[in-house]
Amino acid sequence: MTQSIQAILFDLDGVITDTAEFHYQAWQTLADAEGLPFDRIANEKLRGVSRRESLGLILGGRTVPEPQIQEWLDRKNRHYQELLQTLSPADLLPGVAALLQEIREAGLGLAIVSASHNTPFVLARLGIAELFDAVIAGPEADAPAGKRRPKPAPDLFLLAAERLGCPPANCLVVEDAESGLIGARTAGMVTVGLGPEERVGIADLVLPNLHGVRLDELLYAGTWSVAEGQFAPARLHQWESALTIGGGASGTRGSFEERYPGDQPATLIHGLWDDVPVVYTELANAFDWTALDIWIDGQPFRMDRGRVTDYSRRLDLRTGELRRHLYWTPDSGATVELSFARIASLTDPHAFAQSVSVTPLVRPVDVRIRARIDGFAENESYLHWRELQPGRLGDVAYLTGLTRKTGKRLVEALQLVDSAPEPAGLAPVASSPLRYTDAPYNPGFEVEARLELNQTWALAKLVSIFTSRESEDPIAAALTHAAGLGREPYAALLAANKAAWAEFWATGDVVIEGDNLAQIATRHGLFQLRIAAPAHDERVSIAARSLSGFGYRGHAFWDTETFILPFFTYTQPNLARNLLMYRYHTLAGARRKAAGNHLEGAQYAWESAETGDEVTPRWVPGPQGEELVRIWCGDIELHITADVVYAIWQYWQITGDDEFMAGPGAQIVFETARYWESRVEPNRPKPGQYSISDVIGPDEYHDHVDNNAFTNGMVRWHLRMAIGLLSWLREQAAARAEELVGSLDLTPARLDHWDQIAANLVFNRDPQTGLIEQFDGFFARKEVDWPAYAVRTKSLQALLGIEGANEHQVLKQPDVLLLQVLFPDEYPLEELRVNWDYYAPRTDHTYGSSLGPAIHAWAACRLGDPAEAYTHFMRAALADIDDVRGNARDGIHAASSGGLWQALAFGFGGLRVTGDTYSVHPQLPKHWRRLAFRFTLRGQPHVVDLHQPTAQLEAANAT
Ligand code: BGC
Ligand code: BGC
Repeated sequence: MTQSIQAILFDLDGVITDTAEFHYQAWQTLADAEGLPFDRIANEKLRGVSRRESLGLILGGRTVPEPQIQEWLDRKNRHYQELLQTLSPADLLPGVAALLQEIREAGLGLAIVSASHNTPFVLARLGIAELFDAVIAGPEADAPAGKRRPKPAPDLFLLAAERLGCPPANCLVVEDAESGLIGARTAGMVTVGLGPEERVGIADLVLPNLHGVRLDELLYAGTWSVAEGQFAPARLHQWESALTIGGGASGTRGSFEERYPGDQPATLIHGLWDDVPVVYTELANAFDWTALDIWIDGQPFRMDRGRVTDYSRRLDLRTGELRRHLYWTPDSGATVELSFARIASLTDPHAFAQSVSVTPLVRPVDVRIRARIDGFAENESYLHWRELQPGRLGDVAYLTGLTRKTGKRLVEALQLVDSAPEPAGLAPVASSPLRYTDAPYNPGFEVEARLELNQTWALAKLVSIFTSRESEDPIAAALTHAAGLGREPYAALLAANKAAWAEFWATGDVVIEGDNLAQIATRHGLFQLRIAAPAHDERVSIAARSLSGFGYRGHAFWDTETFILPFFTYTQPNLARNLLMYRYHTLAGARRKAAGNHLEGAQYAWESAETGDEVTPRWVPGPQGEELVRIWCGDIELHITADVVYAIWQYWQITGDDEFMAGPGAQIVFETARYWESRVEPNRPKPGQYSISDVIGPDEYHDHVDNNAFTNGMVRWHLRMAIGLLSWLREQAAARAEELVGSLDLTPARLDHWDQIAANLVFNRDPQTGLIEQFDGFFARKEVDWPAYAVRTKSLQALLGIEGANEHQVLKQPDVLLLQVLFPDEYPLEELRVNWDYYAPRTDHTYGSSLGPAIHAWAACRLGDPAEAYTHFMRAALADIDDVRGNARDGIHAASSGGLWQALAFGFGGLRVTGDTYSVHPQLPKHWRRLAFRFTLRGQPHVVDLHQPTAQLEAANAT
């Protein structure tokens, strides 16, 4: 499993045993004898620092002849070794023995990584030497290059990983010194810091010490990031999607700075629409702000040439930073260490930053770095840019251009600045002055330096992005902004991001204990949702594949309202409101769609973009690839119009935002109700009945069906809700009620008609059993020979053909079941069970729609079967980080991520809100120890904290 920790690396001093105390005493004895100023406070700085450097710190700049130094070092070591003689197993720090035992029993690799040459001796005295698979005792003179430098270099950790045969990304390091934590983090490892926050705060997990600490607790440190353990060209596209970063206004795929054949770099910006054949409009791929080239002794750095070792990439979900670290050996043999990092600001939608550092590991090298904005940004071979114009103003280089058809301006401006390596203090690099370069449509800066052995050169590239949507003069805005960014170090942006992300996680996080993979996947999913959610823009929505890929062209579907919005509504209501306002601002498009169909009111587009007009392609390549098939969704997949209203109603219920409901909310509810009124077919099939025929329900394997249960069920609810809403408005906001009654002609007769429709709309429910027929005649369709398709790697639609699937009782995703979980009060549990028993076995769970599994997880929980729910849940959870459906390359499965939250809160947590109170009915999978999350109900924050095995609720108002 790519995300699992396979080895644990321990520092020695202060972690396993307190030889730190012996070191202190040895230094103190020496200092007292020689009259050097020293005390416990001064000693704090020596943690994890080599003997020679420690003495340097004690001397504080005083120059002392080398022979004297040597004598002092030897003497200190003698004092120390005398003290070590007294060590025994009793000197293991509390908790260590049990923890090491537990790690051994779990079969994980175990190593010691210490700066101290006395390590083997100490381990022997402590009686634990045989527990370790590898012991790194200080820099080894004969270790390979890049495995020899003391901490804070990552070398010793990487040497341990190499000896253990474990990729760095799968290692976890326990350290008590900041320098060690820096090294381990640079190596791409998960970190646990022991000690005070001020010293070890950069660690993924901070603990006071190991007393009482269990392995589980350590491993949980790895649940705040997603890692790629090796560079695998075959999985390039999946990781580009899964490692997308962003800040709510744009998303940047995790493609590499140096580019590879067939890669798909993309920065997709909310609202940057351009026209395009077939799919009408799509988000134009913005210029690639991450482009950066490195030459080592004239050879271009590429991971598919030369040799790559010690590779790792990690997306830090607590800071939004994506880091990469590796050693690269060009044909010349001059190995270099390379580190890359990038962030998109969560607080400033225009700010982006990248950092890069190079260190020669075997001999001095000449390094050239070129940072640029790449204007050759295409959407799968389609170029959206015209009038590209590079330029430079002082230290800022920029590129601007217009989208081909819509004429929207994009500007990206960059600055390249020196940045102090971590930690600061190494000899400054004498680099050449910056040279502006203007390769076609690729403005940027180039700079060179001769680097000495082990000398680190670190640069930061700061980028500002503006479009004409946000500024009248986006060029001036970007130039000023980029210049400002250059004045702040990369670390400042990172720190600001960390603070902003902490705020998000304080309300948005879901804690799962006992299942780290589920925890990682959940956090990754929520991270991806957050970076796609506009904080300051109500004219855009979250697309089916968020801003992370070209799938579905940036169009918004019911995915937003039915799958994604509940997470925001319950935890980030301000973001939810923005997303709902998008539907308000696109009402005009919905009205046009209704009118185009000779109907009244407003009908939402199945696929929606800038204006709300229908943008579903009519033809797309079929499931097999080549031949074009007619897509009917834009014509006849109608339920989205009611789905939007459901989301509005839910938002209102949960937030109590009456102002929104009376204003934009009511406008939408009534206009769309009028659409349904005009759409239903009276006296069909029998007098007095109403039908909605020729539709597609959520299960898109069947088209041109009549009376789809989900659609009709939603419409019935929508009309009744609208009637209730008008009564509420009359009581609460009489003037607004009158205004709407007047403008939308909401006469008593009309409302009566809505009531009639709701009462008589066909709904094929067997009154005896409660079994609901998905649409007229579904039960008469053929049965699939399921055992024959048990093992497959394609959807049943691909295997049976479009017509074949249509003729069979096979579902792409839940339809009746979705309706039942959305309205738990209307459909009692027994009826859910009857329908589950019928439909779940007839659903294409593995390769049907990615929207399905989370809903099945939720439904199975309601039925009291968390084990079954778990299977479905993990299918949803792994859609992106494990690419279980094989299509993560097209972008994040945003609806699946939103579904995860619903499966957790409403399914496993069993959260049910009624008015301003709520209840929980937990159904935790057996191996989950804890499930906890927060939500805000009508302004009141709540915590749900569920524990196994007695699964008792500790709900308390958050403070
Ligand atoms: C699903 C739809 C969904 C769309 C976009 C389709 O495959 O069947 O329900 O809206 O993908 O995610
Ligand atoms: C999806 C539809 C979508 C169409 C065109 C199909 O694969 O199932 O929901 O409208 O693609 O984007």
